[in-house]
Amino acid sequence: MSETAKKRILTGDRPTGALHLGHYVGSLKKRVELQDKFDCYFIIADLHTLTTKPQKEHILKVRDHVHEMVLDYLACGIDPGKSTIYLQSAVSAVYEMNLIFEMLVSLNRLTGLPGLKEMARNANIDEESTPFGLIGYPVLQTADILMSKAHFVPVGKDNLAHIELARDIARKFNLFYGDVFPLPEALLGDIPTLIGTDGQGKMSKSAGNSIYLSDDAKTVEKKVKGMFTDPNRIHAHLPGTVEGNPVFIYHDAFNPDKESIRDLKDRYRTGTVGDVEVKEKLTVALNNFLDPIREKRAKFAGEKGLVEEIIYSGTLKMTEIANETLKEMRSAMGLFGGWNKISRIARSRHSS
Ligand code: TRP
Repeated sequence: MSETAKKRILTGDRPTGALHLGHYVGSLKKRVELQDKFDCYFIIADLHTLTTKPQKEHILKVRDHVHEMVLDYLACGIDPGKSTIYLQSAVSAVYEMNLIFEMLVSLNRLTGLPGLKEMARNANIDEESTPFGLIGYPVLQTADILMSKAHFVPVGKDNLAHIELARDIARKFNLFYGDVFPLPEALLGDIPTLIGTDGQGKMSKSAGNSIYLSDDAKTVEKKVKGMFTDPNRIHAHLPGTVEGNPVFIYHDAFNPDKESIRDLKDRYRTGTVGDVEVKEKLTVALNNFLDPIREKRAKFAGEKGLVEEIIYSGTLKMTEIANETLKEMRSAMGLFGGWNKISRIARSRHSS
């Protein structure tokens, strides 16, 4: 495919802190592959964090999170030479587009989205005090997607409904005002979610069940030692269950030695291997996987100003694209015409 024919991709994350293995299997790995085939844009969605935490002390913390997150991106192989990383809050067009798109969606549609209720619950926000902005979360996300005119949006299952909404808004805009937007399509990852070390639910920062890409070898060892396995297996000589067992899910995801995994699983099922050996081998596999990531992370972290430079140039690039899209939107809507006419008449009053 030639450079100009490359389709555009937009995806990204809220900067809530360092990224973990769940982010890697669920999105980062895929993004690194997509970079070569597509024109990729990665958004650091800091405005979205305000939907549940608008306080200033939170905003100040987000700055550090942005830095950590971009280091994780780079360490995993996201290459700023191929892809664009940008800071959402610094692109002013997104605030304007958000308002326009708000006119093209019903409140009913937004309040019916399951993800938002969950987000409110997780943030301890009850129904009466749900901010307008949290209900508008997917509209802001629509503005992110449409301003870049993205063709594809790689996301997890939890974001599928948001992409569907972005499509509907794009369709409506095109119908009302003329063809401006391609209809964005969601791209689902192969392993959408990774279970946490506690075996209770998906790996997430708030659940405290995460192994971070920036964890050192000792920390990984400790976390693996404490991992949940088959709760019914109280002795190493009892047959155990492999399916759904987090230690084996991680082996499958991160241990390249498939022969060794098969052997461990066989012996686990017949009760001839202990958790200790399974976990020791997992620790080795995880640390082998993380070592090159740690090395790259340390190297990039040592280059002062590098992260800032990457965000800065990416944001300038996205600003240009977004301003162009905004211009097209206003022109299609006839908003420009109104203002242009007023300014023309006002100026001509004194020049004649
Ligand atoms: N909603 C995404 C999340 O759950 C973050 C996000 C914001 C996003 N804007 C986006 C993802 C645009 C894809 C495209 O973290």
